[in-house]
Amino acid sequence: MRDAAPTTIFLKDYTPFGFIIDGVELTFRLAPKATRVLSRIKFRPNPDATDKRFFLHGESLTRISAAIDGKSADVRDVDGGIEADVPDAPFVWEAEVEINPQDNTALEGLYMSNGMYCTQCEAEGFRKITYYPDRPDVMAAFEVTIEGNEKVLLSNGNPLSQSQGFAKWQDPWPKPAYLFALVAGDLLNHPGTFTTKSGRQVDLNIWVRPGDENKCAFGMQALKDSMKWDEDVYGREYDLDLFNIVAVDDFNMGAMENKGLNVFNSSCVLASPETSTDGNFERIEAIIAHEYFHNWTGNRITCRDWFQLCLKEGLTVYRDQQFTADLRSAPVARISNVLALRGRQFPEDQGPLSHPVRPKSFQEINNFYTATVYEKGAEVIGMLKTLVGDAAYSKAVDLYFDRHDGDAATIEDWLQVFEDSTGRDLGQFKRWYSHSGTPRLTVREEYDGDTFTLHLSQSTAPTPGQDEKLPQVIPVAVGLLSPNGDEVMATQILELTEAEQSFRFEGHATRPIPSILRDFSAPVILEQDIDKTRRAFLLAHDTDPFNRWEAGRMLARESLLASITTGAAPDAAYLEGLGAVLRDDTLDAAYRALMLGQPTQSELAGLLHEAGITPDPEAIHTASEDLRNAKAAAFGDLLPVLYQDNQIDGPYSPDADGSGKRSLANAALSLISRTDGGALAAEQYAKADNMTLQLAALSCLLDAGAGKEQLAAFEQQWHGDRLVMDKWFSLQIMQAKPDQVAEVTTRLTQHPDFDMKNPNRFRAVMGALSMHHAGFHHKSGAAYALLAEWLIKLDPVNPQTTARMCSAFQTWKRYDPARQTMMSAELDRIANTKDLSRDTNEMITRIRSA
Ligand code: PHE
Ligand code: ZN
Repeated sequence: MRDAAPTTIFLKDYTPFGFIIDGVELTFRLAPKATRVLSRIKFRPNPDATDKRFFLHGESLTRISAAIDGKSADVRDVDGGIEADVPDAPFVWEAEVEINPQDNTALEGLYMSNGMYCTQCEAEGFRKITYYPDRPDVMAAFEVTIEGNEKVLLSNGNPLSQSQGFAKWQDPWPKPAYLFALVAGDLLNHPGTFTTKSGRQVDLNIWVRPGDENKCAFGMQALKDSMKWDEDVYGREYDLDLFNIVAVDDFNMGAMENKGLNVFNSSCVLASPETSTDGNFERIEAIIAHEYFHNWTGNRITCRDWFQLCLKEGLTVYRDQQFTADLRSAPVARISNVLALRGRQFPEDQGPLSHPVRPKSFQEINNFYTATVYEKGAEVIGMLKTLVGDAAYSKAVDLYFDRHDGDAATIEDWLQVFEDSTGRDLGQFKRWYSHSGTPRLTVREEYDGDTFTLHLSQSTAPTPGQDEKLPQVIPVAVGLLSPNGDEVMATQILELTEAEQSFRFEGHATRPIPSILRDFSAPVILEQDIDKTRRAFLLAHDTDPFNRWEAGRMLARESLLASITTGAAPDAAYLEGLGAVLRDDTLDAAYRALMLGQPTQSELAGLLHEAGITPDPEAIHTASEDLRNAKAAAFGDLLPVLYQDNQIDGPYSPDADGSGKRSLANAALSLISRTDGGALAAEQYAKADNMTLQLAALSCLLDAGAGKEQLAAFEQQWHGDRLVMDKWFSLQIMQAKPDQVAEVTTRLTQHPDFDMKNPNRFRAVMGALSMHHAGFHHKSGAAYALLAEWLIKLDPVNPQTTARMCSAFQTWKRYDPARQTMMSAELDRIANTKDLSRDTNEMITRIRSA
């Protein structure tokens, strides 16, 4: 038996565990194929519980012994774990189990990565380590002994004693099992220290495999910046004397916030100018902050059950977004977050996988680490802050920490602190946690010579399991501009609470021009029937940087949709307005680089589908290319200037200014390469001394149909670096012509360095395949079949990563009957695979139910 039988778990069925834990002692005797885990756990009956059954989770464990109060226990094996009869008084549970980390390719529980032991317990991996009530509301202090030959033996908390082959750790802070971690390996550390605001010195380490020690400095600085920021902005101090980060090469997700011992996918912590792009640096900084911030939002206050996942994730994403906005450019950060939301969360919410920020049921919780829980969850926090104001937000969050420190809390607890500290009724606001789907906000304007009126209305299309929705509270940030571009009314927050509501602005002798949903004040789709002239005006004049960018984006979108549906040429008004923005040196480079971008092909497919038009991936691809070519032609004189003006002399620095300049120069280069056959890109490639410039140049060369030589040289130069080679794999697929994508991908899977067991490498290849819109949806169906084939292969090896990647098929109902038939056949093929994992089975079932 591989998994417990699939059952659906419901939020409404929550009941507390029948016992309280007064202490956990674990001993690990490490051996690759036969690690022994001894546990000694003090239980006592929980007076608040009605269900007194003594059930411990356990999966893939070989039981050696089990005892209660020193006497061999009569243990019954049941679905997903064991049961035993226990005294109605405090007792001690002792067990010894054997597990096999070497063969644990699912990367959940205790596993091995390149000879090093490591654990991943969130959400339900601890049950693969020992018998335990593996649920987040059971919190306990852990003492962990590790016996092994590795040089470095780590666990949570503070070290109690250490000697050759032995280490003992104690974590004084009660925690749920999902925050447990153990790492053992011949690792090196990059050390640092941080002095907290109360004067305590904390030792910091980033642990890596030998060879990676020169890639830790940036992560260490990011950690210190995060610690400082959380003190300054949220008043939160670190609470142990030691903070360890470990980099592992085989990891299903980005990183994990285990108490005092964060474990990171090496791609999310290792950085050097030669091997990492500016984008990598930025992401690493954000993820280090994210995991660090979990120490308070997640660890000190954790979740009562997994339905409350957004309690820790939405809030922690919101906090890491604030951190990035503070350290770098706030408008650039906001635009990037919205791009990510529209790129990942909107499609999820518009398809068969749509679910509320707090789901009501699930089969496999691993399938709910989604853009909705994380990114929409963060938007909900942002709206709350907008509605109550900055000062009230701080006060409420302080109350949350005061009231719930040490608790396993709920969304109700979170909202209650806001109600108690502001006196506001958040009953309607709470719908953001239970409604799925993206609301549409429609705007109509009226003007009578004095009073300007905005008529707002909202509606949300039906989503799986939710046909009708009640109106939500939507904070709509609005400013008014005069026709000469002056701001005549600074940003105000309109609170839309009804299905339809009107807002009046009096005393306007000339008709003002509204700028609506400034800074993207709510995660909604804005529908505004306005013409190009108005958009061009906002692109030129809006005082809100987000909406200024948005105006350009909407012009690009409308131009593309017109090309796709009527064959219209790229919109001259858009190109003209964009040119003016690009020439404006008062705007920072990163912002102008974002302006130069355009909606993705899959975004366009989604928009067409919503408008009732079947998207044709080929036509979308052609229109997108045409618009790029039109930019290359229209800005023939400007692009070389932008390129030149944004070259940097002197040493590389991944800061906002340097990375902004490189992003604008590279954006210019990619258009220039459309007219010069890649000549300038070849020059850049030859002299590049950092990965940002090197990779961008290679990308432009491949896009221009050149770069064979450089591609080979790149492999030669970087074949020893796993993370750089991931880029090499991805790039070739990303830059392949649509009809060659499947072929190129197949060839790369035959490369000796393609290893499906490594999630980064699998994603580098199969993720690139599924994200190449025109290639994935090529009419031959070859890419569909190829992805399905590899998902079927990966499922028995790594169900979690397989299940996540099934979402490539979530949009299958958007397309024409021929493509639908092909995708549906592949979904059937996956569904009919023998012994399909619970993870993948749930995903495919949901996707097919569309
Ligand atoms: N809790 C982790 C984070 O958000 C994500 C994660 C989930 C990692 C499950 C591993 C497994 O930072
Ligand atoms: Zn998180």
